[in-house]
Formats: sequence, C-alpha cells, structure tokens
Amino acid sequence: MNTVLKTAHISFDGLDQEDVVDRIRADFPALSLTVNNHPLVYLDNAASSQKPIQVIERISRYYSTEHSNVHRGVHDLSQRATEYYESSRDIIRDFIGARSRTEIIFTKGTTDSINLVAQSFARPILNPGDEILVTHLEHHSNIVPWQLVCQQTGAELKVVAIHDDGSIDYDDFEQSLSERTRLIAIAHVSNSLGTIIPVKRIISDAHGLGIPVLVDGAQAVPHMQIDVSDLDVDFYCFSGHKMYGPTGIGILYGKEQFLEKMPPYQGGGDMIESVSFAGTTYNDLPHKFEAGTPNIAGAIGLGTAAEYMNQIGFEFISEYEAKLLERATDRLSQIEGLRFIGTAENKASVVSFLLRDSHPYDVATLLDKFGIAVRSGHHCTQPVMSRLGIPGTVRASFAFYNTMDEIDVLAESLQKSSRILFS
Ligand code: ALA
Repeated sequence: MNTVLKTAHISFDGLDQEDVVDRIRADFPALSLTVNNHPLVYLDNAASSQKPIQVIERISRYYSTEHSNVHRGVHDLSQRATEYYESSRDIIRDFIGARSRTEIIFTKGTTDSINLVAQSFARPILNPGDEILVTHLEHHSNIVPWQLVCQQTGAELKVVAIHDDGSIDYDDFEQSLSERTRLIAIAHVSNSLGTIIPVKRIISDAHGLGIPVLVDGAQAVPHMQIDVSDLDVDFYCFSGHKMYGPTGIGILYGKEQFLEKMPPYQGGGDMIESVSFAGTTYNDLPHKFEAGTPNIAGAIGLGTAAEYMNQIGFEFISEYEAKLLERATDRLSQIEGLRFIGTAENKASVVSFLLRDSHPYDVATLLDKFGIAVRSGHHCTQPVMSRLGIPGTVRASFAFYNTMDEIDVLAESLQKSSRILFS
C-alpha cells in the first residue's frame, strides 16, 4: 500500500554511509549545540527526536503566511490551510499504507490515540468479566487507559508475561487468550528495552479467534516501515515528536469498519453534522474524531517529517540503525560492571543498562557533564522494572543521525563516569 516510498528517495548514490549521515546531520540545527562545553551527543531519541530544518521551516511558513482555521471558511487562507492540513493526512495514509484517508485521525499523540480507543471502542463493548490483554512490557500509556476503562465497566486487565531478556513469553500469550478477551493492546517496540514484539504473528493469532488488536507504535514508526494493511492491525497509534515531527500531534489509524461504529470521543466543533437541542448528528470520518480547532501546524509539520523520512528511506534507516546498535552493544559490553537490561534477539536501536550498583540518575548526570543526553529512570514502564527487580535503567536510544563516533564518546564517557563513581 505504501506508494510514496517507492518514488521519493533522495539520491545518495556514490556516498558512503558516513557521508550520508553527515548530510543528514546538517539538516538538524540542534545537533550542532554545545552542552557543558562538549558537542551535544543526543541519545535520547526514544523520548523525543530532534527536528530537521525542513520541518521547522514548514511550520514557520505556515504560521507566517498560511495560517487560518480549517474547515470553517470560504476565504482563501482558510481554504489553503484546509488543503495543507488534509494533504498531510494523505501523506500519513501513504506513509503507513492505510487503505483510506478516512482511517487516519489526527490526535495529540500516542497517549491520546490509546485513550480514544479505550473510551470510544472498548468502553461501549465491555461487560463485567470481559478481558483486555496487555503485556508486562507496556508503557504506562498502554496500561492506564485500560485500567480506567476496566474500572468503568467491570472488565479485567490481563498481563502477558515476559522472559528475562525482555522478549514476550509467547506460550503465556497463547494461554492468556480466552473467550472473554475483547481486545489485545500491545507495543510494537518496547520503549525501555528496545524489544521488537512479533505483532504480525500476534495479530494473526488474535484474528483467528476474532479478537481485535491495538498496537502502540510510538517506538516503531521512527525505525521501521509500517504497513498497517500488511499487518492487518485494527488500531495503530503513534506520535509525531518521536519521528522528527512536532510535539502535540499524533495519529490514530483505525479500520473503517470499527471507526464507523464508534461514538465520538469528544464533542465540539468540526465533529458535528448538525446541532439542535433536540439532538446532534455527527460528521463523517475522520472528522467525527477531531473535535475543536485541530493542531493544524502540527499536522502539517508531521506530514513534512514523514516526507523527510521517506526521502532518507527505510532501507537506509533500518540498516544504519542496526549498525549503531551493534556498535553500541559491542563497545558497552567492554565496560567492566556494565549490565545490559533487555537483550532480546530482535531489538530496535535502544540500549538500556546499569553500571554496577550505581543509580541510573547518577550515571545520566555524569554523562550530561560530557554533553551526552540519555534518559534515566523507569521510562514510564514501572511494571517492567519491578518484573526485572531494578529501580530503572540508563537508556541510550539512537536515531539515523547519530554517528559511530558518538557511540565511542558514550563508551569513553561511561568509562570515565565509572572511575569517578567507583575509584
Ligand atoms: N515514552 C517516551 C520515552 O520512552 C517519553 O522516553
């Protein structure tokens, strides 16, 4: 279904990978920053990625000369803003291989998308004793919305076990399915450990039993080409700011057959067809789920971010990020007392670790002194930290603009931090 991807690659012919990365880095102003008298080494991409100049300039142009409200005016500016907003929907439809633009809902982000599905899809169908299935790996955003809807309906949240390496216990997954399972909600990639979950197999097995599946794709979309039609996923959620786009914008993809039947999530402007005190009728998809003035600049910037990723191409992104992961795993494994947390066979470019018995915050604070940005703590996945018996981790998460040299700087700075902490 993805058609843009076949045609839009920038030509990097004749350039080796290092030159390509140099070119890419020149697009990201933040990567030239100096932090604590060191060149910034930005390894907190799983929390939020930096933005290319193309996205920054697109948003600036929108606010400078193209801004007006959408779907509300016959005047030229409003018509143009609407056209840009709606063509961004088309870009995203193509980016994830959805069949129809009506299946692409602009939301505030992954969390908002999951809450929408919990309240609008799950809540009306759940009865006491029904079950929602999640895994032990989930981000809080893919746990708490289900806990809320379970409290509202009397349904129960069931949790699939994981192995010590951070992979899913597939036997436990199969055994957890029952005739009461109404929905499976699962991450595509674990944000704290990097594990890639076999969602295609999960979806196929679930559909064999007639169970719909929601995938939290926040950590997958930045790293791999997603084709929702090929996955046959029922709902797929992701955020703009982790895929080089703006904050406060994200996507809910949903199969039309479900979205059509779901009631609106919020009421207000844009989502109505007609309003009277006798009753209100609702707008068609996708507008039924986009109440109020939307994040127009965010949506337009997100479209530009998707085009930017298309131009780099997922072939390059996947291959290069796999090399970054390999280099990081190799270099960090040589550091005495460093223990990786999350060693599943299939991983995105994320390394989580602990340095002897030091607290993750102490290590991250020292790394910051060397200009290195990593995340430390539980990464909004407290259940997985409890399961592994640790308070949290230090997490370095890589993007296609990171370099092999930056990984060496990380390893050397960790050696220095270790000496400061333990000698
Ligand atoms: N969910 C984001 C992370 O993993 C914020 O850091």
